[in-house]
Parts: sequence; structure tokens; C-alpha cells
Amino acid sequence: MDKIAIKGGKPLSGRIEIAGAKNACLTLMPAALLTDETLELTNAPRLADIETMTKLLVSLGVAVELSEQGRRLALRANALESTLAHYEIVRRMRASILVLGPLLARHGHATVSLPGGCAIGARPVDLHLKGLEAMGADLELKDGYIHAKAPTGLTGATIEFPFVSVGATENLLMAATLAKGVTVLKNAAREPEIVDLARCLRKMGAEIDGDGEDTIEIEGVDRLKGCTHRVLADRIELGTYMIAPAIAGGSVEMVGGKRRLVASLIEKLEEANISVEDTDDGILVSRTNGPVGALDVSTAPYPGFPTDLQAQMMSMLCLADGVSRVEETIFENRFMHAPELLRMGAKIDVQGGTAVVTGVEKLRGAPVMATDLRASVSLILAGLAAEGETFVNRVYHLDRGYEQLEEKLRGCGVDIERIKE
Ligand code: EPZ
Repeated sequence: MDKIAIKGGKPLSGRIEIAGAKNACLTLMPAALLTDETLELTNAPRLADIETMTKLLVSLGVAVELSEQGRRLALRANALESTLAHYEIVRRMRASILVLGPLLARHGHATVSLPGGCAIGARPVDLHLKGLEAMGADLELKDGYIHAKAPTGLTGATIEFPFVSVGATENLLMAATLAKGVTVLKNAAREPEIVDLARCLRKMGAEIDGDGEDTIEIEGVDRLKGCTHRVLADRIELGTYMIAPAIAGGSVEMVGGKRRLVASLIEKLEEANISVEDTDDGILVSRTNGPVGALDVSTAPYPGFPTDLQAQMMSMLCLADGVSRVEETIFENRFMHAPELLRMGAKIDVQGGTAVVTGVEKLRGAPVMATDLRASVSLILAGLAAEGETFVNRVYHLDRGYEQLEEKLRGCGVDIERIKE
């Protein structure tokens, strides 16, 4: 398995181009199942997860054409051969569950493997299933698969989520576009990726109101048509790279970055004495005068502080001038980067869902191991500031969510290379 070597300790200087959002693309692609016309996505990121979703859709009989070096995807589901989402694919990527709603809504049946858990938690899909049952689906769990039927189609329903779920909101939003009657999703997720999906579905002819708020209303229509849609910028890639100059010092411009996508992060960075300025092309982030300030942060559904930036923020706080508290409220096991940061000389005390981080003068490079996508990148960030060389192992996690990471950081003066093993 490849690893990445970083010789840290130098301030950054340069520009980073922000790619299309992985988590928007992973829900936009299954939307192609809702029509027999072509759905064209532009500004798609070139990531392992997008390849996995492509494999899954092709296994169902969707025609997928890539162009512009994989940034333009043309998807057409006019001749489905199967509605089976096999365990072999689903186990590699939980977002595969997002084919369930569209398959049921348009084809009336689907057999989708249960995703199973992952490093950060059990990750159940009960809210997806309860919502589809409320819409009239008949679901049976057998041999690790969801056997779903809706022979006469789905019927609109009012569904109130007990807590916010991005995936369940996406699955049911897509299913509701072709259901008979009106569906109301209460306590819905408000993430920008949900708004991006709703924008695309409206272009396909869906009747949707309230996306981006906590109540979304969908009036089902008979059919949807194809469209062309540009995937929005990846706010988690953006936020990750904004923390790079904060932790290592220097100044980096995030090209294509939009302040509104990372407002909760910007609030925290400015609290920590980091300068964040809008530019004509994006956002300029600098730390040129003194250490990072300590702060408290608690993850929450959008517009709160994103759980997907928690590990990266923790790396930065390891070098803050004081004691910080990091609270993870979304996933039950998302501090696995902490033991690896300790190996680099950090001072972190994990107490249940809260990590108390005592800032240290410096971090020392060390061999460290990634356990999930965002934990991996938090170790890369720590390596940027650490004295000496850091080796981040199992970088296949990184390739799932960060396109050309080495090239982007090398363009800012970082001494980084991928070692093939
Ligand atoms: C999406 O996952 C993202 N993935 C995650 O990003 C992100 O961390 C998460 O939303 C929260 O923002 C994609 O968009 C592909 P949830 P999702 O349903 O939809 C529990 C990354 O690094 N839950 O909002 O799976 C769940 O276990 C990934 O890019 C249930 O209990 O997240 C979690 O504790 C990691 N039952 C909480 O709710 C359900 O039916 C929030 O999960 C669904 C979720």
C-alpha cells in the first residue's frame, strides 16, 4: 500500500484549485436513475469514490460516458439490466445506499446490500428505510440485503426525522420526486450538497420547495427529464486546505472557494488569529503573525461546524497557544486520528465525545496510520507543520476524497511525495 512522505516545518505559499464536491457528486449520480434521458454532470471530481459509484451504476445497466479527463460524466439509465446493488461494491462505499430511493421510485423494486459500519461508526440506514416504508415501500431485510418493492409506485408522505441525516434526506428527496402526491421532509438536512441536488432535480422537472431549510416539500411528477448540472465546489476539500496555512504558517489562495460554504470554519479560524480574505478568484488564508489561538469547537449539522472538518481542526489546535476542546456530536467514533497525533508529540485527552487538546510548541514527524478519509488528511496537515519527516500510511483513504493532493500541496512549496509500496 502506498504511503505519503512529508518533510514539514516550512510556511506555505501558493494557490490551490478547489475541485467539485465528492458528497454532492455521490448523490447527483444516482439521480440519473430517475429518468431515461441523459443526466450530464460537469466539474466532477476525479476520485476513487466517484469511480466506485460509476461501477455500481454500470452494474445496474446505466451507460456512463466520461470526458474532459473524467470531469464530465454523461449518465443514461434508459435500459436498466438489474436493480441489485451488490455487497462487493456497497461495502466499499456507503453512499451506494443512495441508489435505493431512485430505483424504488422509478422501477418499483431494488435489492441493495446493507452498507454495514465503517471506521467512524455503525452508520445504520434505519431512517432511509423508515422513510421509504412511510411512502408505501415494502422492505424486507434478508441475508444482509434490503429487498425493496413498490409495485404500484411510491406515495407522498410527511416524514419527520428524529435527528438530521444527510443521506436519508437525499434518498427520500430523490424518491419523492416521482411519488404520487406531496412529500414533506421535516428536520431535513440543510447541507449545500442537498441544495445542489435539489437544484439539479428541479432542472430535471421536479417540484421542490424549501431545500436548504429544515422542511422540504416535494410534489411528485410523472416523469423527469435529463439536464446538465455543474457540481458545486467541495466545501470539505476547501476547508481542509484552508487549515494548511493555518497550521504550517504562510499564505494560500483557495481558487473557487466560496465563503458561504465554510462560514462556520471561517468564524473559528478568525477566532484563532488566522486571516481570511475574499479575493477575485476565491479565498486567501494566511497566518503570518504568531501562533494559532486556542478555541472550543463542537460539530453540528450544517450550518454548524462540519464533522468532516473536525479531525483537520484538531491537528491545527495541537499547535495552539493554549487548551482547546473539540466535541464530536455526529459520529460515535471519530477521534481515531488522536492516537496518531499523540505519536507526533501532540497532547490530547479524549473523554468520550470530547477531546481536550493542550497546545505544544512543536510536532515531530513520525510514521502514522490513517483509519478513514478525514483522519488521513488530518495527519497530512500535521505533517506540514511537524519537524522532520512524517509518513502517512494507507493513503488509499486519501484517494477517496482528495484529488491530486500531493500536486496541490507541492504547488505551495511543500516537500511531499508518494512512495509506491
Ligand atoms: C454524509 O454521510 C457524508 N457522506 C459524510 O461524509 C458526513 O460525515 C455526514 O453526511 C454528516 O455530515 C456523504 O455525503 C457521501 P448522516 P451520511 O446520515 O449521510 C446516523 C466524508 O468524509 N444515522 O448525516 O451517512 C449516522 O450514523 C463522509 O465525506 C442513523 O442513525 O451521514 C450518524 O451518526 C464521512 N440512521 C448521523 O446519523 C440513519 O438512517 C449522521 O449521519 C442515517 C444516519
